[in-house]
Amino acid sequence: MAKNALRTRLCDMLDIEYPIILAGMGGMGGPVSGPELVAAVSNAGGLGILGCAFLPPQKVEAMIKKTKSLTNKPFGVDTVLPGEVPQTGTTAEFKGELPSVASEQTDFVDKLREELGVPRPRGGKGYLSEMADDTVFSGDLFKEQIDVILEERVPVYAAGLGDPGFMVAEAHARGMKVIGVVGHVRAARRVARSGVDIIVAQGHESGGHVSRIGTMPLVPQVVDAVAPIPVVAAGGIGDGRGLVAALALGAVGVWCGTVFVGTYESIYEDYLKQRIVDGTEDDTQVSRVITGKQARYMKNRLIAAWEKTGLPTLPLPLQPMLILPILDGAYEARMADIVPAPAGQIAGMINELKPAKQVVEEMVEGAKRVLAELSPN
Ligand SMILES: Cc1cc2nc3c(=O)[nH]c(=O)nc-3n(C[C@H](O)[C@H](O)[C@H](O)COP(=O)(O)O)c2cc1C
Repeated sequence: MAKNALRTRLCDMLDIEYPIILAGMGGMGGPVSGPELVAAVSNAGGLGILGCAFLPPQKVEAMIKKTKSLTNKPFGVDTVLPGEVPQTGTTAEFKGELPSVASEQTDFVDKLREELGVPRPRGGKGYLSEMADDTVFSGDLFKEQIDVILEERVPVYAAGLGDPGFMVAEAHARGMKVIGVVGHVRAARRVARSGVDIIVAQGHESGGHVSRIGTMPLVPQVVDAVAPIPVVAAGGIGDGRGLVAALALGAVGVWCGTVFVGTYESIYEDYLKQRIVDGTEDDTQVSRVITGKQARYMKNRLIAAWEKTGLPTLPLPLQPMLILPILDGAYEARMADIVPAPAGQIAGMINELKPAKQVVEEMVEGAKRVLAELSPN
């Protein structure tokens, strides 16, 4: 019985062995879930998802091709589709706008960089160095990313933010599945109407962009709102107990980020991985300082200083442009207490780095144990 409980509808839909999805993790600093991590999770029986948010289309294509060379199993690609970004524009143009729209914040960031002891960026490998030089944050770029993903017929596309409705019919025509990630019931209803195949309900406990609602209340409400569309739970899930809890809430599987950051295969600076290994459940904080949207990171001095000011943040893409001199300088100097480290509240459960395969295996074994304990006969 325990074995069958883990063989959910999600496994049949995605042709995977276990209902465990590696969350798409891009983040401003470049991909965290890259080809090696994605292939390791897919080869272990879950579904790996490449984090391609904000990456130039050529880089998205290269990552997909690399992943195809590392696994024959299904995998996916995640990008974000924030509605508020300009349709077109280059990074240089967005930066150029800053002094006129946010002079107070620009002056403040200069002073803050000095106060925090962050050296001026020397133009080396900066925080956004994996990104395109231009159109990183425009609607046109987001569409170009989708064109590549459709062209490559990646088995699964996940929209980490926003509504992928415009591409669902084309994806289905190519035999692909589409996932919408949401943090509220309202957004879940919207992406359900757009025809997505699977909805990820991502709660407040998550690393990266967060909902205001906790995973425990969010998941069943989304399940009820979008039935019969299958729902996957995200946020604060890092072991077999979390997997069983998600199934008990009506989800058909889990979408996990932070637990896979704590693997050898994740692309994450070693000193930032160490912060997660050393961190407790109380060492993360939600802030808008990096992207302008609420996101959860390991606590650091930049976030603490920004939150103290009470200054309003700017919308995408202006906030990252504003804060970039601090990020670049800190990144070059490897300042672990300044460089943002997105991570969720399960950071306290990660006490050592592991191979991704082991994370999947332990989650499955742990879930089987819990299921057996819950129904001993
Ligand atoms: C390092 C990191 C980077 C992330 N980047 C993205 C991203 O680019 N796109 C996205 O949809 N979600 C992103 N997320 C959120 C994850 O997809 C996922 O929803 C979240 O990690 C789930 O919560 P957990 O961290 O408690 O497992 C990121 C999370 C982390 C920890």
